[in-house]
Amino acid sequence: MGRLYDDLFAQHRVAERLLGELAQQLNVLAAGGLSPELLDALAVTHRTLYADADHHFKEEERALFPLIAEKVGGGADSILAPFLEDHRAFWQEMDSAGAALAALQAGRSAALPQLHDAVGAILVLLPDHIEREDTMLFPMAREVLSADEWVAAERSRP
Ligand SMILES: [Fe+2]
Ligand SMILES: [Fe+2]
Repeated sequence: MGRLYDDLFAQHRVAERLLGELAQQLNVLAAGGLSPELLDALAVTHRTLYADADHHFKEEERALFPLIAEKVGGGADSILAPFLEDHRAFWQEMDSAGAALAALQAGRSAALPQLHDAVGAILVLLPDHIEREDTMLFPMAREVLSADEWVAAERSRP
């Protein structure tokens, strides 16, 4: 299997730590704790999660998913499509959260519900996505890909 397999799991654990931070920050916000300091903290967490997910999704979409698609053949679309759709939905909510954060930092408090909605959606979407990759997709990849194919995956990493 090699490094990619282990790294993808490790990257999920980092994402879970960031999601924990985000959940805590959202709780403070929900309790009426809106402050410049909290917005700054949220912006840092958002930025870190954005960069990490960008790297992680590229690893999955460029190195792992194409090999699964090649191996599984015709049925691959139905297996991989929901995961790709999750990635797309994640970016939509991340962009919405980023826009709301920027608006709030510029003093436009009307953006508060948008931030709540987007962060709330991320906190549901990403843990579920990670769980399905950890328990279904990655074990399936481990099952179907040969040692040589894991070497090929390693070469395709971004
Ligand atoms: Fe993914
Ligand atoms: Fe993942």
